[in-house]
Amino acid sequence: MKPKAKDIREIVAPFKGDRGVTIPVLQAIQNVYGYLPPETFSIIEDELGIPSSVSYGVATFYSQFRLRPVGKHIIKACDGTACHVRGSQTLLSSIKDHLDLKDPESSNDGLFTLEIVACLGCCSLAPVMMIDDVTYGNLTIEKMKEIIMTYRKGGG
Ligand code: FES
Repeated sequence: MKPKAKDIREIVAPFKGDRGVTIPVLQAIQNVYGYLPPETFSIIEDELGIPSSVSYGVATFYSQFRLRPVGKHIIKACDGTACHVRGSQTLLSSIKDHLDLKDPESSNDGLFTLEIVACLGCCSLAPVMMIDDVTYGNLTIEKMKEIIMTYRKGGG
């Protein structure tokens, strides 16, 4: 959904008059758009009186917040210790090659955004990646390519 200031104002409006809402209001906006559009911060300042420097500071401090649009599917590739010793670096570079990514970024087709994470909590399945809410373990390069193909075909 393309962000519109009017729509962002509607998301922000229910938080008026409440205290300590910086994180919840940012989460509410990100839940709709998948990231925080640039106008987010001035709208929060206008509507809630929270200085944009504060809300922007919060958005950049917490890794849960994204400042750029994301693909339809989020790939979280683990590079924690267990995954690292079982070949996550090779897998990561294969994912980047396969999706033609220069950095942990989004694919040109808008389908995938790659994030590198420290641990997905299932080290016994290393190496591991998650796509959206689904965990895939004991990955090989071939298995990763097959899984990504199912999402390209609209499955997953
Ligand atoms: S280190 Fe990868 S899941 Fe824990």
